[in-house]
Amino acid sequence: MQQCGLDHVELLGQHNPAPDPGKPPLDFDASLKQYRHFEDLYKQGKAKALAVGHIEGPEAMELVQKLYDAATVKPVANQVAVSPVHYSETEHAQLAKLGISYMGFSALGNLYNHYDLSHPTLTSIASTYGKTTRQVVLRWFVDKKMGFVTGTSSAAHASENLDIFDFTLSADEIKAISALEA
Ligand SMILES: NC(=O)c1ccc[n+]([C@@H]2O[C@H](COP(=O)([O-])OP(=O)(O)OC[C@H]3O[C@@H](n4cnc5c(N)ncnc54)[C@H](OP(=O)(O)O)[C@@H]3O)[C@@H](O)[C@H]2O)c1
Repeated sequence: MQQCGLDHVELLGQHNPAPDPGKPPLDFDASLKQYRHFEDLYKQGKAKALAVGHIEGPEAMELVQKLYDAATVKPVANQVAVSPVHYSETEHAQLAKLGISYMGFSALGNLYNHYDLSHPTLTSIASTYGKTTRQVVLRWFVDKKMGFVTGTSSAAHASENLDIFDFTLSADEIKAISALEA
């Protein structure tokens, strides 16, 4: 934070508390110990909210519940690789019950979950609203009540990515986007 000239961050996320497939099982106690440190930072005002990340799959959802129960500062988000081609209705619903946002990183499929941003489904919906296909995908996150993280080095792209609050996707359009495949 000092290097960035900040006295606090809005969201402090624990990276990878759940194991990747094929990796050894998570040491829950070690993970909780780290989360406790995050809670201290929250209580000092250095983080306005806490998140966990990479918790995916049925076993991982048990982990979210365990961590949620143990937490004195509840996580507000679980940051995972959500996108139109990688999305779990079940996990979304489980997280929503706990008040935890299902938050997609690589929302535009750059580092993870690559998909075709020029797919006819997206171009057709984009032309309906006079938007770009990226804006349509980001609006899909909003309309499905999910958070997202995207990255850009361009001010013009940042403006484009924020200009998604003047239209709403129909239920059929949301369904069509959710059915896209990698
Ligand atoms: N928790 C984790 O493990 C994890 C994993 C992966 C990523 N992340 C986070 O997510 C962030 C983004 O990851 P990502 O790069 O995979 O995100 P992404 O949203 O899938 O893609 C970002 C890429 O899309 C381009 N882009 C963005 N808006 C655009 C627009 N309007 N028009 C054209 N191109 C556009 C950007 O290039 P330009 O710079 O040219 O705009 C950039 O190359 C990372 O910085 C990181 O903080 C977290």
